[in-house]
Amino acid sequence: MSNDFLWVEKYRPQTVDDTILPKQLKQTLQAIVDTGELPNMLFSGTAGLGKTTVAKAMCKQLGLDFILINGSEEGGIDTLRGKIKQFASSVSLQGGYKVVILDEADYLNPQSTQPALRGFIEEFSNNCRFILTCNFKNRIIEPLHSRCGVYEFNTSKKDMADLEKMHHQQDCSCILHLDNYILVQYLHQVVCQVHNVLHRVYCRNTESILQDYYQ
Ligand SMILES: Nc1ncnc2c1ncn2[C@@H]1O[C@H](COP(=O)(O)OP(=O)(O)O)[C@@H](O)[C@H]1O
Ligand SMILES: [Mg+2]
Repeated sequence: MSNDFLWVEKYRPQTVDDTILPKQLKQTLQAIVDTGELPNMLFSGTAGLGKTTVAKAMCKQLGLDFILINGSEEGGIDTLRGKIKQFASSVSLQGGYKVVILDEADYLNPQSTQPALRGFIEEFSNNCRFILTCNFKNRIIEPLHSRCGVYEFNTSKKDMADLEKMHHQQDCSCILHLDNYILVQYLHQVVCQVHNVLHRVYCRNTESILQDYYQ
């Protein structure tokens, strides 16, 4: 088990309230937890914004049995159906709905697996709810959109423009006007860049780093 994995799990927020999200989105998700009525949902946004974290936290807070399936690793129709059927066909120990969190659903084939998933959502609707996550919602077919509430985790274009400006001009004065969520996105970008450099150093590819730096 790698340390990366442990850190991601160790510092993963356990409740919606613990996450840093745009105010409106957080209120909407908190209202779902408060009412206890979990709809089918589609979480969309760039990697590392908390989609999987929120999906897990909501299930835990509502005391619902859940299974996490990764669409990029287990994307075949038969595997998917087998897993969902096995999970859905037993009775929940906690009572209530069972939840299938289908991470990275945009990796599922839009011609074959996504239409099949639409069928599974209907077939298991009596005791299952689905939370799909994706980086690009335009890669998810319309019949899945229309069966789910769609929740956008990306920040607005205006906020991203402010971030870009801050980054390029190295002017941090606007940082005071940004909310925590946007700062998380900014730090995430910086961490990804540092990670990229470290990876290249690790691969002894220092020449390409120097080229990038002096170009
Ligand atoms: N909005 C957020 N609030 C708090 N922590 C976050 C948030 N987004 C990401 N994280 C941190 O980053 C880690 C990875 O987030 P994750 O939910 O897997 O992102 P995604 O599914 O959107 O790619 C989490 O374990 C958590 O520690
Ligand atoms: Mg995820």
